[in-house]
Amino acid sequence: MKWKTIALTGLFALLSFFACTNNTASNEPAARQEAPLELTAEEREAFLEKGSYITATTFSALSGKLRSALQEEGVPGAVAYCNLVAYPLVDSLSQVHQATIRRTSLKIRNPKDKPTATELAVLETYHANAEKGASLLPGVVAIDQSTVAYYAPILTQELCLQCHGKIGETLKAEDYTLVKELYPEDEAIGYQSGDLRGMWSVTFRR
Ligand code: HEC
Repeated sequence: MKWKTIALTGLFALLSFFACTNNTASNEPAARQEAPLELTAEEREAFLEKGSYITATTFSALSGKLRSALQEEGVPGAVAYCNLVAYPLVDSLSQVHQATIRRTSLKIRNPKDKPTATELAVLETYHANAEKGASLLPGVVAIDQSTVAYYAPILTQELCLQCHGKIGETLKAEDYTLVKELYPEDEAIGYQSGDLRGMWSVTFRR
């Protein structure tokens, strides 16, 4: 099917774009054949800017609320708060920006954040680059004629460890019990500061 070819071509272009070394050059000819799908340099720049604005705004809305909830109610209150607020907040910002804003990860807390096949490939590329010590760059790619995706890494900070850290070390066992009550299938723990936690995945109309 045509859309599959298109999606794959986009993905190849994306993977070579995200890699910081040149060893993915073998994918390039395939990407070039579908030239009309590729973004122009101007489009690329404009969508990178738009994506970084949207994710920065969403991140500061989320972390602002998180910080105040932590201060006022400690980890248990903040976990309950995240559970109620994080998803609707991101959803409503999606409407404001006329985009679909998602956070996803190889290890997820909310099952709704499970990566799609395309997101999974990008996440794996980010992790491979992180392992090599390469810098993790945001990127944009045309998904099809009318949709563009923006991806950017989300790194773990000190503040995050109280809920995503190591049990019994940075994450208190009793706090994690609460997390598990709300998210029985949680996988999003064991992180250290600076680790790649996941990524933003924003899609907008071209
Ligand atoms: C008070 C506890 C708490 C803190 C602190 C916290 N998180 Fe989370 N995090 C959560 C909860 C709860 C969810 C699930 C939210 C939902 O249901 O949408 C979540 C979800 C996420 C997700 C979405 C993917 C997934 O696993 O479902 C990312 C990415 C994420 N957190 C990153 C961070 C980062 C980065 C920090 C630090 C800046 C951070 N978190 C700090 C509790 C926390």
